[in-house]
Order: sequence, then structure tokens, then C-alpha cells
Amino acid sequence: MAAPHLLRRFTRSLSRRPPTAADADWVRSVLTPGEWALWSRLPNHDRAHAVRVARRLETSLAGTPWAGDPAWLDAALMHDVGKYDAGLGLYGRVAATVCGAVGGPGMPQAWSGRTGFTRKVGLYLRHGEIGADMIRMAGGHEEAAVWSAAHHHPDTWAAVGLDPRVAAALDAADHE
Ligand SMILES: [Fe+2]
Ligand SMILES: [Fe+2]
Repeated sequence: MAAPHLLRRFTRSLSRRPPTAADADWVRSVLTPGEWALWSRLPNHDRAHAVRVARRLETSLAGTPWAGDPAWLDAALMHDVGKYDAGLGLYGRVAATVCGAVGGPGMPQAWSGRTGFTRKVGLYLRHGEIGADMIRMAGGHEEAAVWSAAHHHPDTWAAVGLDPRVAAALDAADHE
């Protein structure tokens, strides 16, 4: 991730404002009941991020063959839902991101089997795969589960059957 993107996200995450009631109604109209239950328990800044990502995706898919498919809006709204399990606040997430960069790709699995803060860091760094399990267990859209598991792993997108144009739009919406 580029530094300006990280700085923008950090600044936004300081805001504790929840999504508006209109945004929440829109989210509820997109998600399955089980997904809504998962999404609703996220902290304000995670829900606000999800709404921004889904709104950007809606704009970028307008006029494409995927514009009318709610599964991709659903995927945008649910992509970070697995962060709930780690229970990390803003500064813990910054520390986790640094640990992930320093530790390398094999460490999150090992860390999530430990205890205390180490476990939280491991769970946070594995939020994609954890979210995918949550979505499937909640009866959510398979597209949302696939995108949750894959959204930080571009090298897997083709193998899991994601259309490259949809994956690129989802990724761009997450990183603006
Ligand atoms: Fe993520
Ligand atoms: Fe995200």
C-alpha cells in the first residue's frame, strides 16, 4: 500500500461517526439477514469504510455488465468483516500492519494460535479468510466470501475465478 493511501485511511479512521441512517438502510437492502447481523456489530469506522468502498464500486461498475448484480456491492460491504474477531483498535491495527510486513506471510497463522496481543495481531492479519468463514456460516453471498478471502492476495484472483475487471474495481474502491 502506498503511504498517501495509508495516511488517508489513518485520518479517516480517527472519525467515530457512524454511517447515516440512509446509508444503513441501503446496506440492509443489499446484505442477507445473516450478513447484516455480522456487519452491524462492526465499529463505526469499519462500517463507514465499507459504505465508502461500496459506493465507489457502485459508481465504477455503472454501465458495465456487473452494474445490476448486488453480489459485488455485497462483497464490497463485507470484505473487512473478519476484522471483528481481532478486536484491535486503531493503534493496534497499525502495530499489526507493521508486524505483518516485518514477520512475512507465514507468521499470521502461527501468531493467531498464540495468546494475548500476539493472537490479536495474527487474527487481524488473517481477517480476509476469517471473514470468508463468517460470511459462509451466516448464509451470505459466495461472491462476498470469495472476495473477503482474496482481497489482500491479488495472486489468487484468477485461481478463485474472479473476473479481472471486477476484482480490479473492487480493489480500487478499497484503496482510494
Ligand atoms: Fe482488508
Ligand atoms: Fe478495506
